[in-house]
Amino acid sequence: MKKIDVVLGLQWGDEGKGKIVDSISPAYDVVARFQGGPNAGHSLQFDGEGFVMHTVPSGIFRDKTLNIIGNGVVVDPAILMDEVHKIEAKGVDVKSKLLISKRANLILPTHRILDAASESAMGKGKIGSTLKGIGPAYMDKTGRYGLRIGDVLLPDFRERYEAKKQRHIQMLTQYPDFTYDLAPLEGPWLAAIEELKKFTFIESERYVNDAMMNDVAILAEGAQGSLLDIDFGTYPFVTSSNTMASGVCTGLGVAPNRIGKVMGIFKAYCTRVGNGPFPTELFDETGEELRKIGHEYGATTGRSRRCGWLDMVALKQTVMMNGVTELIMMKPDVMDGFETIKVGVSYKRYGQDLDYFPYDADESIEPVLREFKGWQTPLSDIRRYEDFPQAFKDYVNYIEAETGCPVKIISVGPDRSEIVYRD
Ligand code: GDP
Ligand code: IMO
Ligand code: MG
Repeated sequence: MKKIDVVLGLQWGDEGKGKIVDSISPAYDVVARFQGGPNAGHSLQFDGEGFVMHTVPSGIFRDKTLNIIGNGVVVDPAILMDEVHKIEAKGVDVKSKLLISKRANLILPTHRILDAASESAMGKGKIGSTLKGIGPAYMDKTGRYGLRIGDVLLPDFRERYEAKKQRHIQMLTQYPDFTYDLAPLEGPWLAAIEELKKFTFIESERYVNDAMMNDVAILAEGAQGSLLDIDFGTYPFVTSSNTMASGVCTGLGVAPNRIGKVMGIFKAYCTRVGNGPFPTELFDETGEELRKIGHEYGATTGRSRRCGWLDMVALKQTVMMNGVTELIMMKPDVMDGFETIKVGVSYKRYGQDLDYFPYDADESIEPVLREFKGWQTPLSDIRRYEDFPQAFKDYVNYIEAETGCPVKIISVGPDRSEIVYRD
């Protein structure tokens, strides 16, 4: 019996999960998404071309890998079909390689409108959501009003949809100043529902458990990051799902003792898109350099990402809570030219020391920074760990010592090939 391995983000998302899943998926028979939805933007790059995955798992371009959209995911059929067409244009037979859980909840066009209405009503205090309808769709799921993938095959699906839509339209009257136009969203959505029916819907929990029993190797692909987790992230500036290892259990129907490796991904620095606390954020030229060199602009929304130093307090916490067994470091190459590199090693709040990310984190938290010597050597062409400069190895050693976790993979560029594996 095989266990399921997991790749998940340890910061505020955009750590590089897509690239890593694409890179390591030849070692897996199945890649499965377990939570989130089209708020995710997972970038892949190979053969000189780039792709951004929103709902489809990042194993889709590998010939022998099946891909599953699990029950914990929320699916917008219009976005999914758009994505499928782009992948098909690259010659991939998506229909034969993608299985969708019947239990996954649907994002309705009115969920997107409710998301936008709620955000605009919050003004400056808004979450800064991706406006994909994620929050309202998960609210309907937990409120037990949701429609699920399997429902699209029911003879009265259209009536069920109309009833949900009318309920949402009623809810939108709470926002009298908010104007919206449903038709341009609804038309493509209904057309996508028809197309969706040609895909294979499965009881994914049964499929996944049978597969593990038959020694099939499965990789669970997380979306967002641990600091955006609905329970343990920087609430309320979070997403609406459990982004941590526990989400694999509920989002795929896997028992906790069936989880194998937990591969935690982090950037060698830190970014965040949207509002909310970010203790090591930089507002100076260094922050601007990280953004420019790292192309830190959202893969889903194009928004500029906030940039700052690595936050060791937060990283230790997310490594602990996810039971991370190995770390994957991304994008150190972005800091190749830096003379010095800093890391937030603890916090100060109202003059007091703090070694924990508290439940009410806000601007009152200041980081205590430790300085490291920069390596000032280009890393992108390096393929063997021993060839890295000593100053970079010192940085890796420090992270391993602090987290108690080995750094097993180091990514040194956006391309599939720009990667260093350690034994
Ligand atoms: P995800 O949401 O976790 O999959 O990450 P995103 O795709 O949103 O953001 C990661 C960005 O960094 C993408 O633009 C990737 O192409 C890029 N990227 C990934 N790994 C590396 C790396 O090691 N170095 C550099 N310079 N860019 C990388
Ligand atoms: P990937 O999978 C980075 C952020 C949004 C916002 C908050 C809530 O590419 O790492 P939502 O639309 O989920 O209600 O937005 O979460 N957010 C992400 N930030 N990467 C993501 O996904 C994100 N998905 C959501 O910016 O702050
Ligand atoms: Mg992303």
